Amino acid sequence: MRRYSRITGTGSYLPPRRLTNADLVAELGQRGIETSDEWIVERTGIRARHFAAPDVACSDLGLEAARHALQAADLQPTDIDLIIVATSTPDMVFPSTACILQNKLGANGCPAFDVQAVCSGFVYALTVADAMIQSGAASRALVVGSEVFSRILDFNDRTTCVLFGDGAGAVVLEASDTPGILSSDLHADGKHVGILCVPGNVSGGQVLGDPVLKMDGQAVFKLAVGVLEKAAHAVLAKAGLAEADIDWLIPHQANIRIMQSTARKLKLPMDKVVVTVDQHGNTSAASIPLALDHGVRTGQVQKGQTLLLEGVGGGFTWGAVLLKL
Ligand code: ACO
Repeated sequence: MRRYSRITGTGSYLPPRRLTNADLVAELGQRGIETSDEWIVERTGIRARHFAAPDVACSDLGLEAARHALQAADLQPTDIDLIIVATSTPDMVFPSTACILQNKLGANGCPAFDVQAVCSGFVYALTVADAMIQSGAASRALVVGSEVFSRILDFNDRTTCVLFGDGAGAVVLEASDTPGILSSDLHADGKHVGILCVPGNVSGGQVLGDPVLKMDGQAVFKLAVGVLEKAAHAVLAKAGLAEADIDWLIPHQANIRIMQSTARKLKLPMDKVVVTVDQHGNTSAASIPLALDHGVRTGQVQKGQTLLLEGVGGGFTWGAVLLKL
């Protein structure tokens, strides 16, 4: 009998400090940076975001999300035999945030590692966990997307600092006789490294280069809408399903206009799209599991439904996972 993987619990966590656009406009104004609620809402759909306190790390946000997902799956930390954390804002250069989170959670002993695919990180991590479960290498995985993007923002650059927020989402993925994850499709094209990157690194005890986010917004926008459509059609074809079989599109929450364009191309009405970008901003690898958990906990997304998860981000990376909840 074929072995599949299935999501049995979801969880998420947002740090308590919430900044509306008005709050951010006021803070940036004190630095002499001009922006407005109207500009941010019209261009991105973002109305608020959460920022973590200075002493809160990526693993702390991930830990809370993981606890909620374990509770939803009715499991204990010691039941978990694989931890994958998708993040671009790790606690340390090394060890991985997954190892730090594993220790905080009390799941010591199981394999734990990070996946770095920026905003596509969660679909990458979910695909790796699914493959490890299908192969028999793991049976109960914790897959976490967690980010503190506020730490890598340049608050003097209004073209980027209004877009991002902090948060974490998690799922428990368990071996199952029935799917579960139906298909996935991952890609990267490294020739686009320069359009979205944090070009700094640590060398000889110094930060070399610029350790804050740089983005060519229009280039990112154009690439994102094209690849998301392709990845969606690829996972549908692999699973033998059609656009009309999708109950919910849960895309990376970067920008409402990218989501609207993707939905239009897939002939899906916006009421089949889970939208949290308005309240969370872009939380990179955390955005898909945050949106998934939001959908589940609000009762929008129900067991047995077909979900299309899609991510796109720095690298350039992109991918999709089609699953039955
Ligand atoms: N407030 C007010 N004005 C601003 C701001 C701001 N925060 N930022 C830029 N502007 C100004 C610019 O200076 C420019 O002024 P000018 O015409 O006088 O030169 C004007 O607004 C238009 O700027 P554009 O960059 O052309 O604005 P655009 O419509 O492209 O919107 C945006 C910018 C929102 C970044 C858009 O390009 C976009 O959504 N790109 C996708 C990028 C994205 O979502 N990235 C997230 C990370 S990647 C990912 O997750 C997939």
